Amino acid sequence: MNRKNYLFLAVICLLIFSLQAVCLAAETADTLPNVKILATGGTIAGSGATNTTTVGYTAAVTPVDALINNVPELKKVANVSGEQISQIASENMTNEVWLKLGKRVNQLLAQDDVDGIVITHGTDTLEETAYFLNLVVKSNKPVVVVGSMRPPTAMSADGMLNLYRATILAGSKDAIGKGVLVMLNDTIHSGRDVTKTITDRVDTFRAPEIGPLGFFTGDQPVFYRAPLRKHTTATEFDISHLNDLPRVDIAYHYANNTGVVIEALTRAGAKGIVHAGTGNGSIGKAEYPAIEAAQKQGVVIVRSARVGNGIIARNGEANDDKYNFVASDNLNPQKARILLMLALTKTNNPQEIQKMFWEY
Ligand code: DGL
Repeated sequence: MNRKNYLFLAVICLLIFSLQAVCLAAETADTLPNVKILATGGTIAGSGATNTTTVGYTAAVTPVDALINNVPELKKVANVSGEQISQIASENMTNEVWLKLGKRVNQLLAQDDVDGIVITHGTDTLEETAYFLNLVVKSNKPVVVVGSMRPPTAMSADGMLNLYRATILAGSKDAIGKGVLVMLNDTIHSGRDVTKTITDRVDTFRAPEIGPLGFFTGDQPVFYRAPLRKHTTATEFDISHLNDLPRVDIAYHYANNTGVVIEALTRAGAKGIVHAGTGNGSIGKAEYPAIEAAQKQGVVIVRSARVGNGIIARNGEANDDKYNFVASDNLNPQKARILLMLALTKTNNPQEIQKMFWEY
């Protein structure tokens, strides 16, 4: 054969290989789950001055497309695309962002071409957003909230691997029907039970007493239990018609407290107040005048506890029947606030709300 024939043969072979590669890529893409990444901000999108800066960095600066491009491995586990819902440090989370996020999640999950959603989020209020979504998402497809404790610029940053694993989880059939999940530090938590327990360490997210739902081993999510309380499609809460949420605040109890915070919250227009009581949700005698004045203005009082763990016994440290209080079951104050806000979109009857605290 002359040179021309060899060249022609080489071009044909190249074309065949290229075609095979394209077909393989297309086939792979067809088999990968379609995962949407909705970004809200936080440390996972943060930036520090040096690679040893793990405090004093700037949160919420990297846009979602850069987050995705910084972890090219995402494309091996899912067909990913991103949307920027907000770009905030999560201590600044608002009802407006929650409603925008919840409505967008429901809109996307109603699409056949979306198999799961990852939400990147600051860790400060991550547990609140996760529980809010656990109560308002109307799909059993996986929704995984993920954050990081170190900015991507730091040595041993945790965000990239957290995002990679959250994406695997959002595309995993095992995650279907388990409510909104939280994934950091190789651990899979329920959005209802998880809470931030340590100010500055990667193992901060825990579900004290109850524990995680499962863990990652390598790239494999492993579940050991599933949530029992009502969530997502089983809840009565519908945000599709809402443009705001009822105002609910938290009043912390402590020695020598005279109830001035409750007076102030009532004046500010709170429709519900979560009392973060001492011990088993105890209320100080000096607080009762402010509490009863609030109730006269229609404010619903939920008894939770500043200790953060354990069940608030109804009619234990307070006569809930007499005072029409709601006991928060085992929800800490910040979680009880989320449920009370949504409950007040349905009713302000304490008995009906108490039932919700025993169901969700
Ligand atoms: N400002 C905090 C926040 O956005 C940083 C904590 C974090 O995201 O890990 O929640």
